[in-house]
Amino acid sequence: MLSTLLLASTLAFTAFAHPPPPRTRPDPDCASRTTTHISSAITNTTSTVEWIYNGTSLDGPKVHPVNSTTFDWWYFDAVSSDLASGDLSSVVINFYTASPGGFGALSNNKSTILETTITGTLSDGTPFGFGKFPADATVVTDGEGSAGVWGEGGTEWSSSPDLKHWVIKFDDPEDNVSGQMTLQSVAPPHLPCGAVEAGATELLMPHIGWANAVPDALAQIDFNLNGTALSFTGPGYHDKNWGDQPFFDTVGSWFWGHGHLGPYSIVWFDARDMFGAEYFSSYVAKDGKILTGSCSNGTVIVRPWGGEDAYPPPATAANPDGFIVTFADVEGKELVVNVTSALAAVALEYVYDRWIGTLAGGFADGTGNWTGVAQYEEFKV
Ligand SMILES: *[C@@H]1O[C@H](CO)[C@@H](O)[C@H](O)[C@H]1NC(C)=O
Ligand SMILES: *[C@@H]1O[C@H](CO)[C@@H](O)[C@H](O)[C@H]1NC(C)=O
Ligand SMILES: *[C@@H]1O[C@H](CO)[C@@H](O)[C@H](O)[C@H]1NC(C)=O
Ligand SMILES: *[C@@H]1O[C@H](CO)[C@@H](O)[C@H](O)[C@H]1NC(C)=O
Ligand SMILES: *[C@@H]1O[C@H](CO)[C@@H](O)[C@H](O)[C@H]1NC(C)=O
Ligand SMILES: *[C@@H]1O[C@H](CO)[C@@H](O)[C@H](O)[C@H]1NC(C)=O
Ligand SMILES: *[C@@H]1O[C@H](CO)[C@@H](O)[C@H](O)[C@H]1NC(C)=O
Ligand SMILES: *[C@@H]1O[C@H](CO)[C@@H](O)[C@H](O)[C@H]1NC(C)=O
Ligand SMILES: *[C@@H]1O[C@H](CO)[C@@H](O)[C@H](O)[C@H]1NC(C)=O
Repeated sequence: MLSTLLLASTLAFTAFAHPPPPRTRPDPDCASRTTTHISSAITNTTSTVEWIYNGTSLDGPKVHPVNSTTFDWWYFDAVSSDLASGDLSSVVINFYTASPGGFGALSNNKSTILETTITGTLSDGTPFGFGKFPADATVVTDGEGSAGVWGEGGTEWSSSPDLKHWVIKFDDPEDNVSGQMTLQSVAPPHLPCGAVEAGATELLMPHIGWANAVPDALAQIDFNLNGTALSFTGPGYHDKNWGDQPFFDTVGSWFWGHGHLGPYSIVWFDARDMFGAEYFSSYVAKDGKILTGSCSNGTVIVRPWGGEDAYPPPATAANPDGFIVTFADVEGKELVVNVTSALAAVALEYVYDRWIGTLAGGFADGTGNWTGVAQYEEFKV
């Protein structure tokens, strides 16, 4: 669920000067509506960070303000449902409020917290990537939903208050790129330990928050990348992460991914902190109902297979060929999913890898046999 790094050679950046400090205020005509204006400035103000869901604004800003050691971002992705027949189309769109000190894998601009990145792969697997450093950003929350605008005429998203419908758009004459991605959610939102309920923890591990507004969606992508069309449909996804200290002071390694397997929407998270403690979050939904949503020990175990498949993954390890994802308890049964990588979609050597791949799985008792597609990632520090 996370983040994305740029293929520097394919990028073009622009940026502008910046304006006033962040402020969030309740909207007078609606108690659950807030507007947050965010400037690009890196401040040394202490950040106030949310860790408990209070019953509203699931997808709103969680860090006020983002300072030189904290981060808060919104992530969207999609992968083609025709992957098994050779369509390698995929896309990841990120909206960052993250200083380089907060999320060190980011950016070649050390003087801003605002960045958008759009990366992915064309149908033949060719990677692309571009991004912006806008002067300011605005996030509006309405009910559970949100809308964000990163820069005048820049990249933006909006959702319905019930989190069902989403549109992400960009139009950049300078790079000659424009496009739209829509998501129709097909699975209920969740937090690290299960359903979205007031009082639930948002902590994935100490110092890292996670809210998964859209675990699975029908995504439609229509991009024009300087004359090259990218159009596909497939499983889409949206979440956000945030943290109150530098990401790489917290995370030792992590495996995250999501996909659609037969009738199931699945999301996995199996991560280690710097001290080696392992944290889990499982999610399996079907027909709009959560079947598994847990953070208990071993609720989902993710281990690499093939290639270089040591666990925990050494920082210098080459890629595995895939992962085995085992959900301990889906209505009383163990669900075992073989994730086989089709393409390494983006990589920062030794730190981050993202793949698209196929899923094959069924219950450990031999019942069920389904296939699907997934987008997933690994950090190893
Ligand atoms: C980096 O961001 C700052 C603040 O928005 C901006 O002033 C500067 O021009 C940006 N640099 C580049 C190379 O885009
Ligand atoms: C924040 O603190 C650092 C380190 O002390 C300093 O270099 C920087 O100028 C400060 N930034 C602001 C905006 O005060
Ligand atoms: C940023 O905010 C965090 C969280 O409140 C705090 O621990 C940290 O000291 C702050 N960093 C700076 C440079 O002020
Ligand atoms: C709940 O948290 C959001 C920020 O995520 C805030 O805007 C809102 O005012 C809070 N609501 C209550 C009732 O505390
Ligand atoms: C767009 O494509 C044209 C023609 O291939 C090329 O000359 C130009 O550099 C490209 N523009 C960008 C921003 O990549
Ligand atoms: C922008 O893309 C269009 C195709 O959509 C192409 O015809 C045109 O030459 C491109 N413009 C530039 C400046 O590269
Ligand atoms: C989690 O389960 C594993 C395997 O059963 C066990 O070795 C480990 O001690 C457990 N961890 C915690 C924190 O309970
Ligand atoms: C996963 O499936 C692939 C075929 O896609 C197979 O080659 C591989 O052995 C399987 N991995 C495991 C650990 O079963
Ligand atoms: C699942 O179905 C595929 C193709 O229909 C078959 O090749 C495979 O052996 C089956 N797997 C299991 C575990 O039954």
